[in-house]
Amino acid sequence: MRILLIGGGGREHALAWKLTASPKVEKMYCAPGNPGISRWAECVNIDVRDSEALVAFALDKAVDLTVVGPELPLADGLADAFAARGLRVFGPGRAAARLESSKAFAKALMAKYKIPTARFAVFSDAEAAKAYIRENGAPVVIKADGLAAGKGVVVAETVEAAQAAVDMMLRDAAFGEASSRVVVEEFMQGEEASLLAFTDGYTVVPMVAAQDHKRAFDGDQGPNTGGMGAYAPAPVMTAAMLQRAVREVLQPTVDAMRREGCLFQGCLYAGLMITAEGPRVVEFNCRFGDPEAQVVLPLLESDLVEIMEACIDARLAETSVAWKDAAAVCVVLAAGGYPGDYRKGDAILGLSAAEDSGALVFHAGTALRDGRLVTNGGRVLGVTAVDRDILGAIDKAYRAAQAITFDDKHYRKDIAHRAAARVH
Ligand code: AMP
Ligand code: GLY
Repeated sequence: MRILLIGGGGREHALAWKLTASPKVEKMYCAPGNPGISRWAECVNIDVRDSEALVAFALDKAVDLTVVGPELPLADGLADAFAARGLRVFGPGRAAARLESSKAFAKALMAKYKIPTARFAVFSDAEAAKAYIRENGAPVVIKADGLAAGKGVVVAETVEAAQAAVDMMLRDAAFGEASSRVVVEEFMQGEEASLLAFTDGYTVVPMVAAQDHKRAFDGDQGPNTGGMGAYAPAPVMTAAMLQRAVREVLQPTVDAMRREGCLFQGCLYAGLMITAEGPRVVEFNCRFGDPEAQVVLPLLESDLVEIMEACIDARLAETSVAWKDAAAVCVVLAAGGYPGDYRKGDAILGLSAAEDSGALVFHAGTALRDGRLVTNGGRVLGVTAVDRDILGAIDKAYRAAQAITFDDKHYRKDIAHRAAARVH
């Protein structure tokens, strides 16, 4: 089979690595890819939002299966453009991708189908939002309605901070069109988990639950980032909790989408708060998580191409999805200063030493300059290790992370600390 992978970050590198393991794959292309992905795929310089050029490329190369990594092209309707030309694609169409691209849509769906989530109200008028906040008090969460690259959420400890967030989003249009509406949401207490699932629109097969680390610094301090690391399995998701999450969240959501006339096929990502009352939805994403994909995919025993094809053909129920009895930890190596300003172009050394130690090194923000690998983004590399248990995986991942050097390298030293604490 000929595969086209769309995207160029750590998630796509993990996807490329896992797809390559399938005996079905003869040739893989990636648009735009990155230097790490180029080991497994021929990288082509097409923008992920240029759907016309991507469709033309897929037709020209007789691509059998296209896998879409990031949310933006899915929200644009890239999967619809491919399907309209008879091309097979893993990833939901535009209408189904609204589960991620519009928080107001996702919240309304959950309300209608009684899927557990925080109580909420949607506003486009700042004064009305502020009056609602005064009435309901703090802590409270303010979210931009549209896609804001993970930055459109303010967890406000006080009424004043919540009102300032409303002004920033509605009055000052901090996120442009994405914050022309805001969702004001009840604060939920608990531990978070990322539960990703394969779905063909009917059947739901959950993956191993993961936990990511969004804050920049140890002890969950500092600003939010795209993710500083992740691990799986997350012990907060016990077998009983997983059953509830499938029964109360994932299956009803997939059924609801089908009933609403927008079949969801692909990877459904539920960000869950595990509360005293059970799992409640923080957010939905319409694609693999990043860095979650970098720990979940290395634990997948089965052939990913077979699973993706089963999702497209609605025969996931008959397809085996097996997991390794092991743990995975991913430590993100970031450029100093990230998520604020950071430098690019610093030489990266020690990659082969890290790989020789048994770790997987996924590229997120790297580039080749005159044949040398250099930093080219805030999150530079994801260093993943798999081991029999979480302590072994932590140890292996950090040893590999230390072997890699570049100027101003920054990484968290406490990835998977919650799981480690449960072992000690
Ligand atoms: P989101 O982009 O919706 O995932 O929100 C980013 C982060 O804000 C989440 O990972 C949570 O840590 C936090 N958060 C969002 N909504 C809530 C909520 N209703 N209650 C508590 N924390 C929340
Ligand atoms: N790790 C969070 C996300 O992928 O949205």
